[in-house]
Amino acid sequence: MAKEGKRRVRERWTTRLGVILAVAGSAVGLGNFLRFPVQAAENGGGAFMIPYFFAFFLLGIPLCWVEWSMGRYGGQLGRGSAPAIFSAFWKSPVAKYVGTLGVIGPLIIFFYYIYIESWTLGYAVYGIFGKYMGFSTQGELEAFLSQYQGLGEAGTLLPAYIFFLVTFAANFIIIYLGVSRGIERVSKVAMPILAILGLILAVRVLTLATPDMAHPDWNVNNGLGFMWNPNLRMLGNADVWLAAAGQIFFTMSVGMGIILTYSSYLRRKDDVVLSSLSASSANGFMEVIIGGSVVITAACVFFGASETVKIAESGAVNLGFVTMPLIFTKMLGGQFFALIWFALLFIAGITSSISMLQPAIAFMEDELRFSRHKSVGLLALICFVMCQFPILGLKRGLLDDLDFWGGTFLIVLFGLVQVVIFGWVFGMGRGWKELHTGADIRIPRIYRFIIKFVTPTYIAILLVVWFIQESFSVITMDNYPPQDRPYILVLRLILLALFGGFCYLIHYAWKKYPVREETT
Ligand code: PFF
Repeated sequence: MAKEGKRRVRERWTTRLGVILAVAGSAVGLGNFLRFPVQAAENGGGAFMIPYFFAFFLLGIPLCWVEWSMGRYGGQLGRGSAPAIFSAFWKSPVAKYVGTLGVIGPLIIFFYYIYIESWTLGYAVYGIFGKYMGFSTQGELEAFLSQYQGLGEAGTLLPAYIFFLVTFAANFIIIYLGVSRGIERVSKVAMPILAILGLILAVRVLTLATPDMAHPDWNVNNGLGFMWNPNLRMLGNADVWLAAAGQIFFTMSVGMGIILTYSSYLRRKDDVVLSSLSASSANGFMEVIIGGSVVITAACVFFGASETVKIAESGAVNLGFVTMPLIFTKMLGGQFFALIWFALLFIAGITSSISMLQPAIAFMEDELRFSRHKSVGLLALICFVMCQFPILGLKRGLLDDLDFWGGTFLIVLFGLVQVVIFGWVFGMGRGWKELHTGADIRIPRIYRFIIKFVTPTYIAILLVVWFIQESFSVITMDNYPPQDRPYILVLRLILLALFGGFCYLIHYAWKKYPVREETT
């Protein structure tokens, strides 16, 4: 320990509610209100919900428990990021390199997520001034969005860039303040506000009258029916299962290393079983009940179910940034509700994006022994440079490619590695004991079996199906027009370099500070 004397005392969460709200804050995000409705609409509405619930109970919940307990264990050793935590559970020199996924993965999401988050701020501010309230068609709002993104002919990126800078600064200020003074305090204020805004919107949408007399079937009942009437025919389609599992990973912030880091600031005897369930339920509620009833229902009421599906298919953000504002223009008090909608998105976004930064901060503080100042400064620099890719290369599909690697592929891969390390390398017997240390409730025994066999098999099947169906076109960049492919390629090479550079840092950190508790 003597050599490690310079290491700082690690922070801790101040209250139990604080950590639950922080994890819920990470989970409840743009994924709940923008991604979920699009995924649900594209994958058959009610049909999507069955694989969604399967994935929730067989992937999401078990992975959350695994992450919470691995993170708490690592925290007792003074370790808060995946490279170090993995090597505490798996005594192999390879373990720490596998852990790169849990630091770089969330950063890849951050690089583009923050840009979309900044649009929500822009649209909230524009909402105050009623800037899009004069539009009356989908086309006009689409043009407005393209202009905002600097894609339209006369478009300028300046306002979007300013909102990006403000959002970026806000994120780093919170991170600089630290775990309890920054993340915890913000989450404790933001999450209740978020719930209130969500409820206001849900009540508004659920009490909508039928706006279009020519289509009496476009009403709240049928909107809800679209989400809740299972269409069993779609279940034979592997894509629906892949999409549902992907959504569960993304929305619950599992398979990312984020919960690992957050729970490393717990105390040894702090409960993880019930806290994890509470955070997951809060996220599920905000996604299915609020996210599901607001966007899909409102769109079905104003445009009918089949048009809603078409809008969802026309672009990942169109439901949120085109259809919703359009609906508000047709609604009594629309300007107020538009503001609430975009404020909700912004608050949801910022409590998620700060969580994507913390694993890297924990790595620098715990493993490289950097000061807070230096860690935050260095990370801000890297993120700032990397954020330019999705901003300037939006037209070239760079945002989509980052979303694919960070938000779809790496999460699932990391989830598999993690559950195998826990259930097989560390062992289910020890794992089960570790999970129940300080636990307020006992997990049903069936989950011993699920964590060991079902979750890894489920993820492995998803990866194999994905590999067979899509890996070729991903590698050859088939889904991008030929003129965009050089840009995509450069981005991918830079991401690879980032991984390489990070592996080197790990190598360096382990060499420089060789006395590590897990080897004693
Ligand atoms: N769960 C967040 C959302 O639903 O928007 C997004 C997210 C946060 C994804 C953190 C991944 C992550 F590591």
